[in-house]
Amino acid sequence: MKIVVLAGGYSPEREVSLSSGAMITNALIEKGHNVCLVDSYLGVADNEEVWFKSQKDGGNYYHQIGKNAPDLKHLTDITQERGFIGNRVIEICSLADVVFLALHGGAGENGQMQAVLDAHGISYTGSDYAGCLQAMDKHLAKLIMRASGIPTPDWKLYTKEKAMESFSFPCVAKPCGGGSSVGVIMVEDQSQWEEALRTAFKYEERILAEVKITGREFSVGVLGGKALPAIEIIPKSGFYDYENKYQSDRTEEICPANIIKKRADEMERLALNVHEALGLGYYSRIDFLMEENGNIYCLEANTLPGMTPFSLLPQEALAAGISYADLCDDIANHWRG
Ligand code: DAL
Ligand code: MG
Repeated sequence: MKIVVLAGGYSPEREVSLSSGAMITNALIEKGHNVCLVDSYLGVADNEEVWFKSQKDGGNYYHQIGKNAPDLKHLTDITQERGFIGNRVIEICSLADVVFLALHGGAGENGQMQAVLDAHGISYTGSDYAGCLQAMDKHLAKLIMRASGIPTPDWKLYTKEKAMESFSFPCVAKPCGGGSSVGVIMVEDQSQWEEALRTAFKYEERILAEVKITGREFSVGVLGGKALPAIEIIPKSGFYDYENKYQSDRTEEICPANIIKKRADEMERLALNVHEALGLGYYSRIDFLMEENGNIYCLEANTLPGMTPFSLLPQEALAAGISYADLCDDIANHWRG
């Protein structure tokens, strides 16, 4: 197939997406596809369209996304997205049989990009705009989970006008539509409340305060209607924040998770329920906390989970006997549109 891998974009998770995009590109080349890696914010690398031939046609791996690209690290401090896709990027996407979405966060994962691709008749991987919207808006996702009988920690939605109303402590303050824990703060008591709100409001106009659940953290991928083996996430210090997620050796990940079968089965059942309740597509990754007494709570669903070979979903797939390249190929073959 001719595949455009769409990565980068304009969200606080840009850097993570660039890693996912480069790795997916190489995996798809290995599987015999012709691939063009496109940064949805900056356009094609080096301003020229380059299709990387499949290996069997003598093609080479691509290692250099972001070459000559401006340093956009400051994006993590930016609250407002501007235009998130240009006409040239749409034109290149139209040339492909399918667009593999390697975007994370913001317009790439909240349904906006999916709706634009729909409007242009372009096929893409993952969930449709409605599923992305429902999953990415944590308030909406939690309302749907509650209505579907899926346990999720109690929470309250805050806008700037309502910000002075307090919440119970300890709690977790987080932007309503964020990812990779950007802007997430653990609030132990009232003295930390205002500062936490100020930080979360830097990212979005709507934020959540959620009851802090003390327990072990797990994630369960869903692929083609089946749950993958649960993975346990054990940060060496603090919680699973941006640094612990992306700096090597800061977090231990165990897959399959070392839990009794009854709990693993329950987590897998809940993951499938969440996936279905939110109307998600071919794949997703659902995050959980489990208290010492065995109570399991769903934190959120990720419609475009991290996709480097070291990310959680690919590790779970590997535990189920699916290699990284096969996983990327499988997702690409189950496009929608
Ligand atoms: N938001 C990140 C990429 C994840 O869920 O893996
Ligand atoms: Mg997330």
